[in-house]
Parts: sequence; structure tokens; C-alpha cells
Amino acid sequence: MTLKAKLSYLLGLVLLFCAGMWAASEDFFQNNQPNTYTTLGGDFTLNSHTGEVNLKDFRGKLVALYFGFMSCPDVCPTALSSLSAALRSLNTKQQNQIQPLFISVDPARDTLENIAAFSTYFHPSMKGLSGDLDYLEKLTRQYGAYFRHIPLEDSALGYTVDHTSRIYIINQDGVLIETIPHATPVTKIVTILEKYL
Ligand code: NI
Repeated sequence: MTLKAKLSYLLGLVLLFCAGMWAASEDFFQNNQPNTYTTLGGDFTLNSHTGEVNLKDFRGKLVALYFGFMSCPDVCPTALSSLSAALRSLNTKQQNQIQPLFISVDPARDTLENIAAFSTYFHPSMKGLSGDLDYLEKLTRQYGAYFRHIPLEDSALGYTVDHTSRIYIINQDGVLIETIPHATPVTKIVTILEKYL
């Protein structure tokens, strides 16, 4: 390795490390214990293809909420498939007590009609929601989550969206009570959902 190559390698490592730390620090739950996040969560109003939807509409139900975007190549489909499999392994009565929500943080590309179809593909009761970018930024922060639009060179997509991948569990009173990290096994998700029913 030439000195220049060594230096750029080192610089690359430092940048990767910084980016990793930054991303981790924006995923609140990666660094904090569940009992410290009682100030997070809360009500919101978003749009669906059939009109405005408020978290308050689902009082009395356990809400499982996920932030993502439709053209996500891998992370969102994996997480939503796990949530879907967990829901499907519950009986009908239990499933009726849970409201799954998919919130797109890519409103420019994901139309409300498409978000609805995408969501019901994963589970018939899953509602697909979105809002304007400023509101979504505020809302994700409110939930200890983050997303960022990242330009892609040499790609027809134009940009991708970096985002936290967690399922936010909101109880029947509208309080955020638990978050489920990405890649949690389906059986564990089932256990968590059943705990709050
Ligand atoms: Ni995704």
C-alpha cells in the first residue's frame, strides 16, 4: 500500500465509524433501556387513501407501527413479513385486537393508493399511511426513530432512504410501551404481542 492508499483507507474507516455512531445515536432505542423512553411516542395525524387517520382512532387496540418505504429492497419487506407472520399465527380474535400500521417516509414516490395495497399485501388489516416530509421527520423523532433520503448515483431510483427498522408497540391507551428490533424472530414477536393483549 502506498502512503496515499493507506491514508485514504484510514480516512474511510474513520468516516464509516462516524456514520455508524451517528446512525446509532439517532436510533434512540439502540442505546437506551425501555424504561427510559416514557416521554417518546404520542398521537399523530397522517393521511391514508381513504382520508385522515389519527392514532386516537385506534384506542382500545394494540398498535404495531413500522416506518419504511415501498421501494426498500430488503429491510422493510423482511420486517413487515415477520410482523405479518406473527399476526397470522395469532387467532382471529387476537388479530382483531391489533392494528398494524405501515408509515411510508417516502411520500414523493409512495402514493396513498399504493401504500394501501402494499400494506394489505402483508396483512389484510394493515393500514398504509403517510404525510408530508416535515411532519414525518418530526414524527419519527417523536418516536426515537430516524430516516434520511440519500442520493444514489447511477441509479434510476434517484435516491434511497436510510431508516431505522423497528416495530413500535403502542398500547390500548395510545402509549408507546415497547419497540421490537429488526431481525427479531417471529416467535418472539408473537410473545411480545400476546403479552399486551
Ligand atoms: Ni426499508
